[in-house]
Amino acid sequence: MKVTIVGAGAVGAACAENIAKKNVCSDLILLDIKEGLSEGKAQDIMQTAYLNGFNTRITGVTNNFQATAHSDIVVVTSGIPRKPGMTREELIGTNAGIVKGVCLNILKESPNAIFIIVSNPMDTMAYLALHETKLPKNRIIGMGGQLDSSRFKYQISQRLQCNPRDLNAIVIGGHGDTTMIPLLRLATWNSIPVTQFLSAEQQTQIINDTMVGGATLTKLLGTSAWAAPGAAVSTLVEAIALDTKSLIPCCVSLNGEFGQKDICLGVPVVLGRNGWDKIVEIPLSNDEATAFKKSADAVRNMNEVLQTVVK
Ligand code: LAC
Repeated sequence: MKVTIVGAGAVGAACAENIAKKNVCSDLILLDIKEGLSEGKAQDIMQTAYLNGFNTRITGVTNNFQATAHSDIVVVTSGIPRKPGMTREELIGTNAGIVKGVCLNILKESPNAIFIIVSNPMDTMAYLALHETKLPKNRIIGMGGQLDSSRFKYQISQRLQCNPRDLNAIVIGGHGDTTMIPLLRLATWNSIPVTQFLSAEQQTQIINDTMVGGATLTKLLGTSAWAAPGAAVSTLVEAIALDTKSLIPCCVSLNGEFGQKDICLGVPVVLGRNGWDKIVEIPLSNDEATAFKKSADAVRNMNEVLQTVVK
């Protein structure tokens, strides 16, 4: 199993470290355009191999796409991260061209790869990757829902004073401050609905704090978060590499599911060796269905911007 990560910034490096720790691939290529950055990050992480007990060989390369040849999975983190006060959507003008170029360069070397798109605005970048590569839709996966769901579990755990690992809770919809939909109604604490333990006010707070989870960190850190994004990507890579058939919310191309088509949006999917196998539809309440439609409308508006920014 060979994995390539494009972009050796904080998110790309966190992906590399977390994927290596999972011990699910023999080779991992970290590629960046900045001379020395990926080589340095690769060496630094490799020097933890003994300490953290992993066997993955990580190699850093500068702009050398040939080195990525025959990758099974490619993680695209390229582009600029957001600064405090920015929305993910404001990055589209810069990131669309970068993501397009990267996807096409990767495709030449690894025509059979499964793509995991992390660059923002992620839902639109996944849509762009699908259309530019023309790959079967099951091989294009946007990473957002798994990260947002982990943040959702963190927020619930803070209020319940419980172990996040005892929680089952997912976020669907877009990966944006106003487009994500934390499904609190369906969240459970080891099968007990969490809503039983939370006041209406706490419930609203959990949902709001989850939705601005990334923005809150960007404000504190001065740049976009990396630890949870990297860990979330590694769970997707693990599910694909080990063909685990895990049910994970991911951004995928919809063709009528959840009442939407011609869009990539976050929904629960079964992940395995071929990418995403199937979408699991959830009967949504009226409010949730309205939120999903609103989320799709916002992402679709953003997708239309692609025509003006991508040549
Ligand atoms: C975040 C970025 C990675 O949510 O989108 O932290």
